[in-house]
Amino acid sequence: MLYVEWYLMKKSFPKLGVLVSGRGTNLQSIIHHIQSGDLHAEISVVVSDQPNAYALQRAREANIPSVVVHRDKTLPKESFDRKLIETLQVHGAEWIVLAGFMKILGPVFLAHFPQKVINIHPSLLPKYPGLNAIQSAFENKEKVMGVTVHYVNEGVDTGPVIMQEKVLIDPSDSLEEVESKIHKAEHQIYPKAIQKVLWNK
Ligand code: GRF
Repeated sequence: MLYVEWYLMKKSFPKLGVLVSGRGTNLQSIIHHIQSGDLHAEISVVVSDQPNAYALQRAREANIPSVVVHRDKTLPKESFDRKLIETLQVHGAEWIVLAGFMKILGPVFLAHFPQKVINIHPSLLPKYPGLNAIQSAFENKEKVMGVTVHYVNEGVDTGPVIMQEKVLIDPSDSLEEVESKIHKAEHQIYPKAIQKVLWNK
């Protein structure tokens, strides 16, 4: 393939806006799969509501534009959603990928990107939605845990499922070992699920 053909092909890849709040290991995995050529997408911007999120550092190291959008609690929640929309629009983001983003997105945001917002959650939804999913499943001594990629709707982790993967738990596994198995599964499934929704393959 000629360089110019390769360049034009890359330019036509769908643009992702990745929303983060924390350490960004899922962001890192997405970056890795884009760079290695098996996820056909471009990250146009990484947006964090937390200025100290390590995910921002990962974006900088990969030369991806990154922006912090503060949630000003004195303003209505909708104004945060509008600031997010504006930032994502400025960077041309077409698909919104939540990767450890800890704020709930409201109807204004979701109406702006209909069926274009996806999330990863560390449980086999509909089991264990919301916070502390891994710990709750571990405390309940679940033998089969897992991860889910789903479209985001107005509920908490209630949108239509895109892909799920089971993770088998050994009774001798510590919580740390379980967390590590779950995160490893997340890092494998998320790029695959993104490729699936973008390209239907
Ligand atoms: C992941 O466990 C993800 O499922 C959940 O938040 C965590 C984010 O981790 N939504 P990281 O910031 O990608 O490392």
